[in-house]
Amino acid sequence: MKAAVLRERSAPLVIEDLTIAKPKGREVLVRVTAVGLCHSDMHVIDGGAPLPLPIVLGHEVAGVVEQVGADVHRLKAGDHVVVCLAFHCGHCEQCESGHSNRCLPPEAMRGESEEPRLRDAAGAAIGQFTNIGGFAEQVLVHESGCVAIRRDIPFDRAALIGCGVTTGVGAAVRSARVRPGETVAIIGCGGVGLSAINGAAIAGAGRIIAIDRLPLKLEMARRFGATDVVDASAGSVVEQVKEITGGRGVDHAIECVGRQVTIEDGFRMLGKGGTATIVGVTSRQTTIELSPLLMMLGEKRVQGSYMGGVRTLIDIPRYADLYMQGRLNLDELVSQRLTLAQINQGFADMLKGEVARSVVVFD
Ligand SMILES: NC(=O)c1ccc[n+]([C@@H]2O[C@H](COP(=O)([O-])OP(=O)(O)OC[C@H]3O[C@@H](n4cnc5c(N)ncnc54)[C@H](O)[C@@H]3O)[C@@H](O)[C@H]2O)c1
Ligand SMILES: [Zn+2]
Ligand SMILES: [Zn+2]
Repeated sequence: MKAAVLRERSAPLVIEDLTIAKPKGREVLVRVTAVGLCHSDMHVIDGGAPLPLPIVLGHEVAGVVEQVGADVHRLKAGDHVVVCLAFHCGHCEQCESGHSNRCLPPEAMRGESEEPRLRDAAGAAIGQFTNIGGFAEQVLVHESGCVAIRRDIPFDRAALIGCGVTTGVGAAVRSARVRPGETVAIIGCGGVGLSAINGAAIAGAGRIIAIDRLPLKLEMARRFGATDVVDASAGSVVEQVKEITGGRGVDHAIECVGRQVTIEDGFRMLGKGGTATIVGVTSRQTTIELSPLLMMLGEKRVQGSYMGGVRTLIDIPRYADLYMQGRLNLDELVSQRLTLAQINQGFADMLKGEVARSVVVFD
């Protein structure tokens, strides 16, 4: 099967013929129909996330189940599925308390002594980013990250639920728990940030302030539910947000970029009792500077949100329903559809900021 392999950092992905193993135990073999390009894939290409190479990137996948391992009972061949990287065991403390996104069980991947899931033409093992490796015609994954979805949702839109939509909507709805009437600022309006805006709108936010450096993204943000926009290239965003809110600051700032300055700005634009939610992925070395005095006096909070706090089996079908009801805007999230051979173009467009999401679609 064909896959786009990252062999060298900062180099283009290379389309190769790989061999994929048969599913065993709780594994599922999925024929990929659509896979989105997320900035987290880019972090591996540019070295921000220094993972061992070679690797198949891609983790925002929709497809059709081809074959299941002997211990899979929840899925069968022919099911339409979304694959999400939040693999989970189902019985640890985090899983039992409704936070299965925090669980990463060893069974999400194959052990050192087992046959690798992917091999190249020379027989060498190839890694799967996030235990998925979605830029490929097929993926072999653990059952717990594979969710059956309704058959009437188009694959190219369903794929986005695998990461960007779940992350953004969930950051607003599940992690920040936006309440009706609250004021929410979203910093960074890529696929994740636009979804966070959409999530805040679904939650009933009174004001949604979208912040980005690109006018095109701010225009898009309005169509996803932003009531106000701030151009980050036009001076201090904190001052601009304070002005919009009459000096009060926001109830929630949701950071969807992954930079020290945007995270610190998120904290600095909070009103009293406000919560800053960090979604963007930084390097391991990145640190932030916050004022503990202002945090204490204003009873402000800072928290992280991983995969939108997703409970894979519950939330992903719900997001598919919200789309089918017209409440989740996935249509405009797909800026362009690409073939696997055009994938490097998709990453170049991401860096230029011209797209919300590019999706690789297979025939
Ligand atoms: N927490 C999680 O579970 C999780 C999951 C998926 C992605 N992410 C991360 O979320 C972030 C966003 O992902 P994406 O796919 O939407 O990326 P993207 O590249 O599509 O969008 C990023 C947006 O941020 C804007 N931006 C860049 N610098 C800015 C600045 N200084 N001020 C304001 N806006 C700025 C860009 O113009 C762009 O619109 C990435 O860091 C990604 O790795 C986190
Ligand atoms: Zn992602
Ligand atoms: Zn668990």
